[in-house]
Amino acid sequence: MILAPSILAADLGHLAGAIAAAERGGARLVHVDVMDGHFVPNLTLGPAVVEAARRATRLPIDVHLMIENAERYLDAFIEAGATSISVHVEAVPHLERVVAHLGHRGVLAGVALNPATPIGVLEEILPEIDFVLLMTVNPGFAGQTFLPPSLDKIRRLRTAIASRELRASIQVDGGINTGNIRAVVEAGAEIVVAGSSAFSKGDPETSVRALLEAVR
Ligand code: DX5
Ligand code: ZN
Repeated sequence: MILAPSILAADLGHLAGAIAAAERGGARLVHVDVMDGHFVPNLTLGPAVVEAARRATRLPIDVHLMIENAERYLDAFIEAGATSISVHVEAVPHLERVVAHLGHRGVLAGVALNPATPIGVLEEILPEIDFVLLMTVNPGFAGQTFLPPSLDKIRRLRTAIASRELRASIQVDGGINTGNIRAVVEAGAEIVVAGSSAFSKGDPETSVRALLEAVR
């Protein structure tokens, strides 16, 4: 299991220090939440912050685009240092084109689904992608509560990927904490995003370590 702290919840005035602390605690991927004030109500980070994260760590950087017209911004995020990028199926009409472009540019391609979006929408694109991001809260803000029906959705997606012998891994994002991380991993999540539970109280090193301990 790969733990991916979301820097949206970090102290952005001390981004390099926050990332370094999370890394000491065992984080293996840095998750960057990009919001445009249209697809989701909130407005957050852009390529400049990805570049700053790139300078701060050698960990891979995972960019979660919660934006409309994502295809216009892919290259800016790739040039800023993204190693994987996910786009929302609800926001991108020409998904195949985006996924192919990411592949050509050597970036891992992910497709993100809101809680109410059924996994059946992945039928055609699933063989082409590197990961599926299942939102376990409605995207827009850190610090929300995990939606319990997500567990069964993770299991069903796990089964669908296994039965077709596909390579896609499952990422989960939203409301993950020490109380539910083991359940999401047992359900089949392989990449776990943690915002508030990694950064909002005390030392991120200790918080990240506690999340990993909770899975053992
Ligand atoms: C929500 C974002 C998440 C969020 C996670 O829209 O995509 O990545 O930052 O934060 P927590 O773990 O606090 O829900
Ligand atoms: Zn996210």
